[in-house]
Amino acid sequence: MKGVVLAGGSGTRLHPITQAVSKQLLPVFDKPMIYYPLSVLMLAGIREILVISTPTDLPLFKRLLGSGEQFGVTFEYAEQAAPNGLAEAFVIGKDFIGEDDVALVLGDNIFYGQGFSKTLQQKATELDGCVLFGYPVKDPERYGVGEVDASGKLLSIEEKPETPKSNKAITGLYFYDNEVVDIAANLKPSKRGELEITDVNLTYLKQGRAELVELTRGFAWLDTGTHDSLLEAGQFVQVLEHRQGVRIACLEEIALRMGFITADECYALGEKLAKSGYGEYVMAVAKGQI
Ligand code: G1P
Repeated sequence: MKGVVLAGGSGTRLHPITQAVSKQLLPVFDKPMIYYPLSVLMLAGIREILVISTPTDLPLFKRLLGSGEQFGVTFEYAEQAAPNGLAEAFVIGKDFIGEDDVALVLGDNIFYGQGFSKTLQQKATELDGCVLFGYPVKDPERYGVGEVDASGKLLSIEEKPETPKSNKAITGLYFYDNEVVDIAANLKPSKRGELEITDVNLTYLKQGRAELVELTRGFAWLDTGTHDSLLEAGQFVQVLEHRQGVRIACLEEIALRMGFITADECYALGEKLAKSGYGEYVMAVAKGQI
């Protein structure tokens, strides 16, 4: 399975913070926001990742992440010239995806929860059609919303409905088989002129090949879309990290634990960042102290 991180958009709801810098490069406590969705892909076992961003921001992502070799993965980069919708990722990423299945994650989505890595790996291996991840929220009208029956079967999906049929938001993480490339290529732009991810999901739903994995209340799916939620996400990470002494979405640690790099390579990455607590943590992880 290949992975795509979509880190475009103009972040207007966060202006003026995002007037000069991409939203997905903003800090969420101790690391740039894009580390969190990248960690999700790596925890799913994905090692070939395409980062899509605007022509202006793409060079900054390249500067931050490089070739991926340091984490034992490959990062490729592609431009989304205009905000034409999430599903355009599969048009832009067609050659990168090739014949493979693909996971799409939005560059501003933060996931945290016990056993997530195992769920991801299992769903990636068993994939037939598409897998969506639902999460209960108090304001579902702001999101794609999934309705399921008593057995958990997905019945309907609606994008930002005025009257939501459930409280299950569809999060910004999607697993698709290779058919998604053709589905996206044949999509018509919506009323707002975008290739909507919800229309892709509805195509799979009509085929009876869409599954909703429910992330329960013990799990955290955090929003970073407003000044308040961005700060709250940072505070959530800070509280957990301080309390437990472990770091969430530390890519060096994940690369080591997934077997993508050796302990020596991990240590060397930590040394480069040694002046920060983050670097010290990476070195301690490499030494087996954490
Ligand atoms: C997008 C999707 C929506 C999904 C959300 C998750 O909305 O269209 O279905 O629930 O991401 O973050 P946007 O954030 O682009 O408004």
